[in-house]
Parts: sequence; C-alpha cells; structure tokens
Amino acid sequence: GLPTRILIHEVGPRDGLQNEKALVPVAIKAEFIRRLAEAGLTTIEATSFVHPKWVPQLADAEELMPLIDDVAARLPVLVPNERGLDRALALGARDIAVFASATESFAKANLNRTVDGALEMFEPVVAKARDAGVAVRGYLSMCFGDPWEGQVPISQTVSVSRRLLDMGCDELSLGDTIGVATPGHVRELLATLTEAGVTNDRLAVHFHDTYGQALANTLAALQHGVTTVDASAGGLGGCPYAKSATGNLATEDLVWMLDGLGIETGVDIGRLTATSVWMARHLGRPSPSRTVRALSQK
Ligand code: HMG
Ligand code: MG
Repeated sequence: GLPTRILIHEVGPRDGLQNEKALVPVAIKAEFIRRLAEAGLTTIEATSFVHPKWVPQLADAEELMPLIDDVAARLPVLVPNERGLDRALALGARDIAVFASATESFAKANLNRTVDGALEMFEPVVAKARDAGVAVRGYLSMCFGDPWEGQVPISQTVSVSRRLLDMGCDELSLGDTIGVATPGHVRELLATLTEAGVTNDRLAVHFHDTYGQALANTLAALQHGVTTVDASAGGLGGCPYAKSATGNLATEDLVWMLDGLGIETGVDIGRLTATSVWMARHLGRPSPSRTVRALSQK
C-alpha cells in the first residue's frame, strides 16, 4: 500500500531561484521562504554556499540566512566543499546537502571534478558536519539520464549512491536532473537499491518535470515505499549546469495528488498556490504548474 504521510522537501528557494535569469532581491527570497513555512512546509531548502561566480543567483546566502533564522522549518543549504561548510556553519545552518553526480560529464560541468574527486571533496565536509551535529543529505544527480552521456546504467547510479551513504550522508536524494526518467526506470532503480541494502527511510526522490513524467515517477516511488519527495513551489527550477533541465515537480501538483490519495502532508494548497502566484508576479511570468493555474483561475 501507499504511505499515509509524506515529507515534502521544498526546493523552490534553492533549485528554483538558482535558475532564474533575473536576480531576486534578498527580501523577496526571505518572504518566499516565510510564506512557504506558513503554508505548512517543514523542510525548505533555502540557498547554497557555493562559489558566487558559479551561481550568482544565490550569492546573497550570507544576507539571506539572518533574515530567516526565526522561520519555523528546517532550512537545509547546499554545500560543495569545506569552504562552503564553514560559511554555512558560521550562519548557524543545521542541515546541509552535498551534491554528487552519477556521471563524469556532470561532475565536471557542475563541480569541476571527476566523480571520485567530488566524493573526495565531500568526505571531510560530511565528517565535519556530522561532528557538529548537522544533518547531511547527499544529492545524486543524473541518476537516470545525462544530457551528454545518455541513459545512465542502474549499476553506476547504485554504486555512487552506496558511496554517499557509506561516507555518512543521512539521506540520499535521487536526482532526475533533466527529467528523462519514466516510472519503470524508477521502479527498477529503487528495487536495485533495496537489494543493495538501502532502506526507504534514507531515500528521497527529486524529479524534474521536463517530459511531464515527474508525478508519475513520484507515484512509482511512493508505491515502492519512499516517503520523502522533493518538489518546488510553482514548479520553479532547473540547473544552470545541465542544459535541458527545466523546473522541478511543482509542489502544488504533488499536494493535489497526495490530497486526493488521502496522504497527509500538512500543506495548505490554497496558501501555497497564493505564494506561487505572488512569486510568479515577482518573476514576471506565470507558474508552469497546472495546479497553480487551475486553482488561481477559480
Ligand atoms: P573550482 O573552480 O574548482 O573551485 O569550483 P576551487 O576549489 O578551485 O576554488 C577556487 C576559488 O573559489 C578559491 O578562491 C576558493 O576559496 C573559492 P581563491 O583561493 O582562488 O581566492 N571557493 C569558494 N568561495 C566561496 N564559497 C565556496 C567556495 N569554494 C571555493 N563554497 C566548486 C569548485 C565546487 C566551488 C564550484 O564548482 C561550484 O561552486 N559549483 C556549484 C555548482 C552548483 O551550485 N550547481 C547547482 C546545484 S546542483 C543541482 O542543482 C542539482 C540538484 O538539484 C539535484 C538534481 O536535480 O540532480 C541538487
Ligand atoms: Mg534539481
């Protein structure tokens, strides 16, 4: 059967805004995060402590954190290396995420490292974060397909997954960075991870909706027993270092499906939709989420 409750890991302020051409003012980012928490989201990925030249959209992380330190939600931040971790810890971050790649092409494009080199870079970060009592998520990008290498073998994804968990990541988020996965592939990857000893309580799924498959893929993951799902309010998002990456699964589309299935999320879809409509106005274009469009035209 399906899980009775799902934890939504909201990535709009990070995965969404990292891909916006226009720089969003820090006060708007803070208000976005505050409104997401008020809509009932309990885990909201806030920003990244990466090199400011690599992702100028999130170069204001130091200014943003003090503006949201009273928000009643977990506020994970992306951290690629020790320099990033030190910046995040100095601002009181309690949840971090490192981000690896299943493919060499994307490791190079996104991190300027080989797959092994990136994992070596993360090892001291994970150890130091855990010593500080900070929870660590490990993202794995290109779990299904890669724009340069095509379909990614399941064995390759499983092998890097194991290495992230073995190095001490509490949770592994399986990224379909360019949105090419389909439900059969999702089922097969999850079954192979289970056989490799990875339990569902350590897994999350992270789907981008490029080919309109994100919700179907999510349902396949729920049927497997995964209970943490990444989504982005209004369907904002993409990755600046992966051509053909579009927005994430929209949080509203996810909540609409889960509400219909009677699966609890704690999220108020009306308040969430109002937040995405407000954000879309700031960004100057409508949300790509079908649910946001339908609910806001009522
Ligand atoms: P690099 O050029 O190899 O950097 O980039 P480096 O290690 O050689 O350092 C060069 C200089 O940068 C040094 O300064 C460092 O101090 C500085 P110098 O000594 O020359 O004056 N530096 C930093 N400054 C501030 N903060 C830092 C930092 N690190 C180094 N953290 C690096 C390597 C990892 C830094 C770079 O590639 C990078 O920042 N990449 C981030 C890319 C990114 O954020 N991508 C988007 C997130 S991933 C994603 O969206 C996918 C996901 O959603 C899942 C999915 O969908 O699949 C998570
Ligand atoms: Mg992503």
